Amino acid sequence: MAVRKNRDSIVCTSAILIVLVAEIILFSASRARAGGGQDSVAAKATFRTKCAMCHGPDGAGSEVGKSMNVPDLRSDAVQKVSDAELAQIISDGKGGMPPFKSSLSEAQIHALVSYVRSLRQKK
Ligand code: HEC
Repeated sequence: MAVRKNRDSIVCTSAILIVLVAEIILFSASRARAGGGQDSVAAKATFRTKCAMCHGPDGAGSEVGKSMNVPDLRSDAVQKVSDAELAQIISDGKGGMPPFKSSLSEAQIHALVSYVRSLRQKK
């Protein structure tokens, strides 16, 4: 009888452990997803406030931007530029584009580079 009880409680404890482990795995996975999502939501907001006046909300170029000859950020010409160069252009500016290194952190600039990449995928 005592042995039987013991075995039941072992089964019960392992079931609880399995559920706990599964929960931890699911929890960290959903946190990782939420984190990535937050980053791109933030980059989208930054893009809308700092860049869309020239580049348009979708990167195609606003009226103001077109008058300044902004390239379509979704185009191959821009997409083939390396991440490092895009980050450098955003921080130092280029032609009619102002530099952003004093108003954006390096992390924000990197998030914007990924955002510019994501514009192409939507095409
Ligand atoms: C005042 C208008 C203006 C604003 C604001 C602006 N840009 Fe630009 N951007 C330009 C112009 C003009 C060019 C073309 C520069 C050139 O090639 O001479 C350009 C070019 C670019 C390019 C392409 C560079 C290349 O040669 O491939 C990228 C990427 C870019 N901008 C990203 C951004 C991002 C990200 C922001 C917001 C942080 C931003 N821009 C804000 C005007 C602007």
